[in-house]
Amino acid sequence: MKILIINGPNLQLLGKREVNIYGKVTLNDIGANLKQVVYDKYNNEIILDFYQSNHEGEILDKIADTINNKTDGIIINPAAYTHTSVAILDAIKAVCIPVVEVHISNIHSREEFRSKSITAAACIGLISGFGIHGYELALHALIRILRSKK
Ligand code: DQA
Repeated sequence: MKILIINGPNLQLLGKREVNIYGKVTLNDIGANLKQVVYDKYNNEIILDFYQSNHEGEILDKIADTINNKTDGIIINPAAYTHTSVAILDAIKAVCIPVVEVHISNIHSREEFRSKSITAAACIGLISGFGIHGYELALHALIRILRSKK
Protein backbone atom coordinates (compact mmCIF):
# COMPACT_ATOMS: atom_id res chain seq x y z
CA MET A 1 0.00 0.00 0.00
CA LYS A 2 1.43 3.35 -1.06
CA ILE A 3 0.46 6.63 0.65
CA LEU A 4 1.53 10.10 -0.44
CA ILE A 5 1.82 12.85 2.19
CA ILE A 6 1.65 16.36 0.73
CA ASN A 7 2.44 19.51 2.70
CA GLY A 8 1.75 22.89 1.17
CA PRO A 9 3.24 26.37 1.46
CA ASN A 10 5.31 27.45 4.47
CA LEU A 11 5.11 24.07 6.16
CA GLN A 12 8.84 23.60 5.54
CA LEU A 13 9.16 26.27 8.25
CA LEU A 14 7.45 24.17 10.93
CA GLY A 15 9.40 24.37 14.15
CA LYS A 16 10.34 27.99 13.49
CA ARG A 17 7.06 29.40 12.22
CA GLU A 18 4.46 30.80 14.67
CA VAL A 19 5.47 28.25 17.30
CA ASN A 20 2.63 29.37 19.56
CA ILE A 21 0.22 27.98 16.94
CA TYR A 22 2.14 25.22 15.18
CA GLY A 23 4.59 24.10 17.86
CA LYS A 24 8.29 23.33 17.73
CA VAL A 25 8.13 20.09 15.81
CA THR A 26 9.64 20.14 12.30
CA LEU A 27 8.34 18.56 9.11
CA ASN A 28 11.19 16.06 9.32
CA ASP A 29 10.06 15.09 12.83
CA ILE A 30 6.52 14.51 11.50
CA GLY A 31 7.90 12.29 8.73
CA ALA A 32 10.08 10.33 11.15
CA ASN A 33 7.09 9.79 13.47
CA LEU A 34 4.90 8.48 10.63
CA LYS A 35 7.65 6.10 9.51
CA GLN A 36 7.89 4.84 13.09
CA VAL A 37 4.11 4.30 13.21
CA VAL A 38 4.29 2.28 9.98
CA TYR A 39 7.14 0.23 11.45
CA ASP A 40 5.46 -0.33 14.84
CA LYS A 41 1.82 -0.79 13.85
CA TYR A 42 1.76 -1.85 10.20
CA ASN A 43 4.71 -4.20 10.00
CA ASN A 44 6.46 -1.81 7.59
CA GLU A 45 3.93 -2.80 4.90
CA ILE A 46 3.01 0.76 3.93
CA ILE A 47 5.22 2.83 1.64
CA LEU A 48 5.16 6.53 2.54
CA ASP A 49 6.13 9.24 0.05
CA PHE A 50 6.71 12.68 1.65
CA TYR A 51 6.37 15.82 -0.44
CA GLN A 52 6.38 19.53 0.37
CA SER A 53 6.00 22.44 -2.03
CA ASN A 54 5.34 26.15 -1.87
CA HIS A 55 3.98 26.12 -5.43
CA GLU A 56 0.40 25.34 -6.31
CA GLY A 57 1.22 23.97 -9.78
CA GLU A 58 3.80 21.55 -8.37
CA ILE A 59 1.24 20.26 -5.87
CA LEU A 60 -1.24 19.74 -8.73
CA ASP A 61 1.40 17.77 -10.68
CA LYS A 62 2.18 15.62 -7.65
CA ILE A 63 -1.51 14.83 -7.13
CA ALA A 64 -1.96 14.01 -10.83
CA ASP A 65 1.13 11.73 -10.80
CA THR A 66 -0.70 9.37 -8.43
CA ILE A 67 -2.71 8.11 -11.40
CA ASN A 68 0.44 6.69 -13.01
CA ASN A 69 2.49 5.70 -9.99
CA LYS A 70 -0.28 3.64 -8.37
CA THR A 71 -0.58 5.58 -5.13
CA ASP A 72 -3.46 4.23 -3.02
CA GLY A 73 -4.28 7.32 -0.96
CA ILE A 74 -3.17 10.82 0.00
CA ILE A 75 -2.85 12.77 3.23
CA ILE A 76 -2.71 16.48 2.45
CA ASN A 77 -2.18 19.64 4.43
CA PRO A 78 -2.77 22.24 1.69
CA ALA A 79 -1.88 25.02 4.20
CA ALA A 80 -2.94 28.45 2.87
CA TYR A 81 -4.13 26.89 -0.43
CA THR A 82 -6.87 25.23 1.64
CA HIS A 83 -8.74 28.50 1.61
CA THR A 84 -8.12 29.52 -2.01
CA SER A 85 -7.41 26.64 -4.35
CA VAL A 86 -10.18 25.42 -6.62
CA ALA A 87 -7.34 23.89 -8.67
CA ILE A 88 -6.31 21.57 -5.80
CA LEU A 89 -9.98 20.74 -5.19
CA ASP A 90 -10.31 19.71 -8.86
CA ALA A 91 -7.04 17.73 -8.81
CA ILE A 92 -8.22 15.72 -5.80
CA LYS A 93 -11.54 15.04 -7.51
CA ALA A 94 -9.73 13.98 -10.68
CA VAL A 95 -7.54 11.26 -9.18
CA CYS A 96 -10.38 9.27 -7.56
CA ILE A 97 -8.38 7.93 -4.60
CA PRO A 98 -9.18 8.58 -0.93
CA VAL A 99 -7.70 11.81 0.41
CA VAL A 100 -7.64 12.94 4.05
CA GLU A 101 -7.06 16.63 4.79
CA VAL A 102 -5.05 17.59 7.87
CA HIS A 103 -4.55 20.89 9.67
CA ILE A 104 -2.27 21.26 12.63
CA SER A 105 -4.33 24.12 14.05
CA ASN A 106 -8.09 24.24 14.48
CA ILE A 107 -9.03 26.23 11.38
CA HIS A 108 -12.45 26.97 12.91
CA SER A 109 -11.05 28.75 15.93
CA ARG A 110 -8.85 31.24 14.08
CA GLU A 111 -9.48 34.08 11.63
CA GLU A 112 -12.79 33.76 9.80
CA PHE A 113 -11.13 33.28 6.37
CA ARG A 114 -9.49 30.08 7.64
CA SER A 115 -12.74 28.43 8.64
CA LYS A 116 -13.64 27.71 5.01
CA SER A 117 -11.78 24.81 3.38
CA ILE A 118 -12.31 24.72 -0.37
CA THR A 119 -10.27 21.53 -0.76
CA ALA A 120 -12.01 19.47 1.95
CA ALA A 121 -15.11 19.08 -0.22
CA ALA A 122 -13.20 16.53 -2.33
CA CYS A 123 -11.73 14.69 0.67
CA ILE A 124 -13.06 11.78 2.70
CA GLY A 125 -12.66 13.84 5.83
CA LEU A 126 -10.75 16.55 7.62
CA ILE A 127 -8.71 16.41 10.81
CA SER A 128 -8.02 19.79 12.33
CA GLY A 129 -6.77 21.05 15.68
CA PHE A 130 -4.90 18.05 17.06
CA GLY A 131 -1.48 19.49 16.39
CA ILE A 132 0.99 17.26 14.63
CA HIS A 133 -0.87 14.18 15.91
CA GLY A 134 -3.39 14.92 13.18
CA TYR A 135 -1.05 13.33 10.64
CA GLU A 136 -0.95 10.10 12.60
CA LEU A 137 -4.73 10.09 13.03
CA ALA A 138 -5.08 10.66 9.28
CA LEU A 139 -2.73 7.76 8.55
CA HIS A 140 -4.75 5.32 10.68
CA ALA A 141 -8.02 6.54 9.15
CA LEU A 142 -6.73 6.30 5.59
CA ILE A 143 -5.28 2.81 6.06
CA ARG A 144 -8.56 1.62 7.55
CA ILE A 145 -10.48 3.00 4.57
CA LEU A 146 -8.05 1.49 2.06
CA ARG A 147 -8.13 -1.92 3.76
CA SER A 148 -11.92 -1.95 3.77
CA LYS A 149 -11.91 -1.40 0.01
CA LYS A 150 -9.66 -4.40 -0.77
C1 DQA B 1 -2.70 25.14 8.37
C2 DQA B 1 -3.81 26.17 8.56
C3 DQA B 1 -3.83 27.16 7.41
O1 DQA B 1 -4.85 28.12 7.60
C4 DQA B 1 -2.50 27.88 7.30
O2 DQA B 1 -2.50 28.73 6.16
C5 DQA B 1 -1.34 26.97 7.30
C6 DQA B 1 -1.34 25.80 8.18
C7 DQA B 1 -2.58 24.18 9.58
O3 DQA B 1 -1.95 23.14 9.42
O4 DQA B 1 -3.08 24.48 10.67
O5 DQA B 1 -0.32 27.24 6.65
O6 DQA B 1 -2.99 24.35 7.25
